[in-house]
Amino acid sequence: MQPIKRGFEMAGPKDNREYISRLKESGDIRSVKRVVHWDLEMGAMVRRTCETGGPSLLFENIVDYPEYRVFGAPIATFRRFAVAIGKKPETPVGELIAEYEVAMGRPMKPVIVSSGPCQENVVKGDDVDLFSLPVPMVHEGDGGRYIGTWHINLAKDPDSDWVNWGMYRVMLTSEKVMAGLCLPTSDQGKIFYGKYVPKKRPMPFAMAIGADPVSSMVSMASFGVGVNEADYAGALLGQPVELVKAVTSDILVPAHAEIILEGELFHNAVAEEGPFGEYTGYRTAPRTNRSVYKVNVITFRNNPIFTMTCLGTPVDDCALGMAVIRSVDIKRFLVDNGVPVTSVFVPPEGAMMLGVVGIKAQYSNIAQQIGQLIFGAKFGGLWMSSLIVVDEDVDVFNISEVLHSLVTKCHPVKGITVLPRAIGSPLFPFLDVNDRILSKGCKAVYDCTWPIEWPKGDIPTKAAFSTMYPNDIQERVLSKWEEDCAV
Ligand SMILES: Cc1cc2nc3c(=O)[nH]c(=O)nc-3n(C[C@H](O)[C@H](O)[C@H](O)COP(=O)(O)O)c2cc1C
Repeated sequence: MQPIKRGFEMAGPKDNREYISRLKESGDIRSVKRVVHWDLEMGAMVRRTCETGGPSLLFENIVDYPEYRVFGAPIATFRRFAVAIGKKPETPVGELIAEYEVAMGRPMKPVIVSSGPCQENVVKGDDVDLFSLPVPMVHEGDGGRYIGTWHINLAKDPDSDWVNWGMYRVMLTSEKVMAGLCLPTSDQGKIFYGKYVPKKRPMPFAMAIGADPVSSMVSMASFGVGVNEADYAGALLGQPVELVKAVTSDILVPAHAEIILEGELFHNAVAEEGPFGEYTGYRTAPRTNRSVYKVNVITFRNNPIFTMTCLGTPVDDCALGMAVIRSVDIKRFLVDNGVPVTSVFVPPEGAMMLGVVGIKAQYSNIAQQIGQLIFGAKFGGLWMSSLIVVDEDVDVFNISEVLHSLVTKCHPVKGITVLPRAIGSPLFPFLDVNDRILSKGCKAVYDCTWPIEWPKGDIPTKAAFSTMYPNDIQERVLSKWEEDCAV
């Protein structure tokens, strides 16, 4: 692997407008000027650009919504993630993930400003109409129009300065009401069920649509109770995030977001939500009673740009963002547990269900130990089902190398450890319906490391450029490569 260079080329864009102009410069966005419908057509186009590794789409002419533009698939490729954090678009994946890892170790406090563009326009009370926004019907068969597919849900702990940012999907139910998942396992759920429901009080909320790409992405990370995601968004951007006080509560919201919704999450009401095309690449969960958000105020920038993605078969914004976040979370977790880990990648193609861990094997059964650790943790138990453990000479970011290692080094009988009873997710498509309802999961670890007890001479020599040629020949070939062989 190439040595990793550290450091930002420049700070990331402070808002989506700056981000869009940088994507235009790098050729990673297309403006769609023809008339496009919010009912399925935008969803279909965003879905297809995700499935083909295509550019972001900026819809400039939407049926019924002439005053709005919609920014689709903002960060669904590693090239766009690179632009979002101020790096060159062609930066290698391993280097981008290393940047995220560095940023997570150096939080940067936000700056609080007295006014922000997100409040250039304020609509209150009876005038609030969520259908005035170009909310897409994302997939055919969804339970409704989804307003929250690439956004930030904000909730404040009433006893401290902690404002949680999370991304939890939200569907429109009427002009002023939305329904969505506020699961007790989520950080927002911990504030809501821990501090408001017992007191029989509604919880003030804010929702930011069209914040800068890094803030939206960081809201998908699980930092835990008491940690402000804004500090880590600033760290990753390379400049502090600007926040402004919401109009109706003491929640601090991203000042440069395009649209902010403010209101209350009801402690005493439920509404039907879903189904929805999900991140696993399937529609799995049925229509169910979920939490109810009542919107009291909408604030927005002049000429607002709504933001959306279309979850489904990878790679979309969710799979891409989670690949970065989980790769670093898992590496730090294994290092903290004393595992001789060299690198970790949660490939976006694996829809968060697959992890690849590179190790320097020093004792037997490390692969099984890694499985026990990861599958016992929140991110592994609920979200992952398969782990591939490889030797350090395999580049975990190169799926071809990982696949080659899997079929050549993992013994189909001795190399696979199955955990037949483990916690699972109601969204694991391979579970039967009863097991999904009860979250009864199962897991597998694929050990693709040479057994530590094999004598060196028994280990087959890899027939690769890096292993079959003396250093001087390799260096000569590499130094002349551009001239002789590059296309
Ligand atoms: C479009 C989208 C929708 C999501 N919807 C939900 C959701 O409804 N509920 C949930 O718990 N997680 C959802 N997630 C995943 C969360 O963003 C992720 O689990 C995050 O870690 C939650 O933060 P928390 O652990 O601080 O609560 C969604 C992710 C994306 C990209």
